[in-house]
Formats: sequence, C-alpha cells, structure tokens
Amino acid sequence: MNKELTDDILRNAMEWARAAGAIQLNYFRTNDIGIETKTSVHDVVTKVDKECEEFLIGMINETYPGHGILGEESGSHDIDSDFLWVIDPLDGTNNYSQGLPIFCVSIGIKYRGEALVGVVYVPYINEMFTAVKGRGAYFNGNRINVGEKTRLNECVLATGFPYDKDVNPDNNVNNVASLIPLIRGLRRMGAAAYDLCCVGAGFIDAYWEFNLQPWDVCAGELIVREAGGEIIPFRNDRNIGIVAGNHGLCRQIYLRLHNKNM
Ligand code: IPD
Ligand code: CA
Ligand code: CA
Repeated sequence: MNKELTDDILRNAMEWARAAGAIQLNYFRTNDIGIETKTSVHDVVTKVDKECEEFLIGMINETYPGHGILGEESGSHDIDSDFLWVIDPLDGTNNYSQGLPIFCVSIGIKYRGEALVGVVYVPYINEMFTAVKGRGAYFNGNRINVGEKTRLNECVLATGFPYDKDVNPDNNVNNVASLIPLIRGLRRMGAAAYDLCCVGAGFIDAYWEFNLQPWDVCAGELIVREAGGEIIPFRNDRNIGIVAGNHGLCRQIYLRLHNKNM
C-alpha cells in the first residue's frame, strides 16, 4: 500500500479520534448523555455514541469519498470499496454512562480485507495507541511490545461478558472460574479495544472474550499483532471470540478455554 496515503489515513484517524474524544469529555459525568438500552437492558447507547459516529462518518466521507464504512451505530456504508473504516465511536459505553473513565474511540482501516491502520484513543487519560501493518505499534508515540511472561501464576488477564449473559448460561463465567485459581489477577475493564491496547503495551498479559463485533477488535487486533503478539480465534460460534497475548501465553490460555468449552 502507498506509504503517503497510509500516513495520511493514520494522521487523519488520530486527529478525528482526538476530536471524537473531546466530544465525549464534554458530556462526561453530566446529566445530558441521553442514555437508552439496545439489545438488552445491559446493552446501552447514549447520544454521545451517535454524535461521535456521525462526526467520524462525516469526516471520512468528506476526506475519502467512496471509502467504505462499518460503524457500530449506523451499520454499513459503501462497503464495495477497497478501503473499509471499521469504527466503534465509543467503546465502553457502560463505563461512560456510569461516570467511569475507561472508554475510547476505536478506528480500524482495512485495505482489501486486511487491517492496515489501527487507532484507539482513550480521552480521559489521554492515551493514544496506533499501529500500521508492518510498521509496529505505538503508545503515545513510543514503540510498544506485548509482555514476555509465560507463567500463568505471574500474569494479569482481562476478559468481558456477553450482553445476553442473563438468558444464556454460555456467558464466560465457567472460563473465569477455571482460570482464576491459576493467575495473579483478572480485570474487567469494560472496553474491548482498550483491553487489546493494554495487551499490546504489556500492561495486561493476555485477554480473552467472545461475542465481540468487528468494531470492537479491528484496530486493537492490529495493535496487538504489530506489538509482536498473537490473536487466536476462540469460540467463533459466538460472533468474534479471541485470545490475545504473547505466543506462549495465548496457547496455554486457548487450550484451557478450549477444553472447558468442548
Ligand atoms: C462493549 C465493550 C465491552 C465488551 C462488550 C462490547 P460497547 O462495547 O467493549 O468491554 O465486553 O462485548 O460490546 O458496547 O461499549 O461499544
Ligand atoms: Ca464496543
Ligand atoms: Ca460502542
């Protein structure tokens, strides 16, 4: 892919992610976020999710007319193009609506079906994670690498739970129960894109989750891979399921989860 165009896409995606983050901070911890439920009482959306998506789509259409877009809140637009912008305008809406500071903007750009650029911006803590295919992953401008630990009992992992957890007993609780005794700690941070960035930076040793959507993982998976990590597909009968981390750790966790779910 043409380097100039890739650099231009990266620069714009970072700028627009910062601008969407500023919209989020404007409404954060106010009574004016316009919260509604989506697929279940656990799945929430706010007017901020919608405003950020409208902003991002407007900028993409104006700057790259004809590029395809897949947005969480508005679905697919012009997806026949070689380029596809996969956007989660606000990942971590549950946190956001509670006044908890872990939420982010996630923008992944695919070229001919493969992730080319990934940008995740976490506005409250001003953390910017980026990656370009073949050119490494960065956290606030510094190169990052996944952690090197391979002994589970020294590792801190992250996970999440599906929105249908109340009606579907296949809700990841069995996996947590089997891993908890074996690991140093477990976090449920509430934003899949940020979980993946933390794996990329080695802040979290590994992460697994299923029932995810393309906009949750498009940017974050590229960041993990470009940080030298691996993504193993897991439970793909429940939308997107992944284990992310360094090679050795990923394999161990995958095997444990797989046995548990056979
Ligand atoms: C959710 C978050 C959460 C994960 C859910 C996602 P949203 O995204 O990433 O951590 O467990 O599966 O749907 O709804 O806040 O954009
Ligand atoms: Ca999301
Ligand atoms: Ca979202």
